[in-house]
Amino acid sequence: MRQGLPSGPPLPVPVQTAIWSRQARRMLYACQDRYGDIFTIKLAYEGTWVILADPAAVKQVFTGDPHVFHAGEGNQILAPFLGRNSLLVLDEKPHMSQRRLLLPPFHGERMQAYGETMAEIAAREIERWPTGAPYELRPRMQAITLDIILRTVFGIEGEQRMSELRDALREFLDLTTNPRLLLPVLLIGPGRVRGFGPVRRRLARVDGLIHREIAARRRDSGREQREDVLSMLVAARHEDGSPMSDEEIRDELLTLLVAGHETTATSLAWAVERLVRHPEKLQRLRAEVEAGEDDAYLTATIQETLRLRPVISIVLRRLTEPVEVGGYHLPAGVSVAPSIYLAHRDPEVYPDPEAFRPERFLDNPPGTYTWIPFGGGVRRCLGASFAQFEMAVVLRELVKRREIRPASPKPERIFRRAITETPRHNARVVLS
Ligand code: HEM
Repeated sequence: MRQGLPSGPPLPVPVQTAIWSRQARRMLYACQDRYGDIFTIKLAYEGTWVILADPAAVKQVFTGDPHVFHAGEGNQILAPFLGRNSLLVLDEKPHMSQRRLLLPPFHGERMQAYGETMAEIAAREIERWPTGAPYELRPRMQAITLDIILRTVFGIEGEQRMSELRDALREFLDLTTNPRLLLPVLLIGPGRVRGFGPVRRRLARVDGLIHREIAARRRDSGREQREDVLSMLVAARHEDGSPMSDEEIRDELLTLLVAGHETTATSLAWAVERLVRHPEKLQRLRAEVEAGEDDAYLTATIQETLRLRPVISIVLRRLTEPVEVGGYHLPAGVSVAPSIYLAHRDPEVYPDPEAFRPERFLDNPPGTYTWIPFGGGVRRCLGASFAQFEMAVVLRELVKRREIRPASPKPERIFRRAITETPRHNARVVLS
């Protein structure tokens, strides 16, 4: 067992921070080449990160004691927007009890109930897309995933209410992904940013609309027949039998929106971006969908997209106590960071790792600690089944309806946008 931190670049913290903010992936590769599957980087504001690429170390983190491995602490920057009850910002017991309330609507088989709504929304949107000229799919995928969340999670009905919430939430989402807001948040602290004029106004508008929906649902006597997530949260009970408060429900609805909207839309954009550059694979997928066979190739395509183009490149756990990880005795206060990016490019697990090859998953289901686009352990993405199901529904509707080719033969580079890693040109294609 080695004491102290694993090696890492001997550069001053501001230099490491600058490189990370612009060239995160290149930095990960370069450090792995030089230092191996465990190394340390140091970032301003964030502190010390020990990056992990080895499946055994990743497993250790994901199965580690939640009292020692804190994920919520690293997400405090979201608290002013999502609220103090948000699953993303909690740790330990409060996290587990909130997660227990949220889990039931996200079980795999429950997703089936949402299939028809998802397909309708996707089909209607796709029918509107122009043909014959270059068109960016990522913003349109965002429109689809936002409407799907509004209907299936918030349970919104009627065009008038949909459009009110759509506008308010778009404004809110722009706030959470606005890089210009990062500086004031860091300067005055996340706690006080809610007092900021534009932030306060947008939050007040969203809160007003959401509280109106919660109140309407509490009054709705037909609630038990409803399948949306909000109805289930209204019916959910804490361990002591008490219902969730309006504040808790508001915080979790916004959390589901922020965690589930852009991630899924961007993954969908990547799936199309990769498929159009491999016409034979797109053809195979279309043939499977048209034959109405099982979804083996569609499922493998989604798994391969999430492997090769994970929209989030690392997950973080801050250590509350000294602990042994990957052969090092690490001190409290540092963060360990399983790198989704590096884990997904391990040539021993994925031969020819840069190649887009859905076939690799046809006979080999993804491994728990080697395929980690949704993180893992007690913090594993709550919406993992929802997202994969949704991606399958949308891709099916798209390949059924349209021929798709790339707007340019060159693959799109990976571009970091606030949190997610997106296709540089938003998946530009020509539909026919
Ligand atoms: C392709 C789409 C998605 C990707 C790639 C993704 C990825 C992730 C990742 C990497 C995490 C952190 C896991 C960890 O720390 O170990 C996470 C957490 C989470 N995700 Fe997703 N996500 C997606 C879609 C969704 C959807 C559709 C929803 C809900 C509607 C959702 C809700 C959540 C929530 C609530 C958490 C926090 C879980 C917790 O802390 O206990 N995600 N997601």
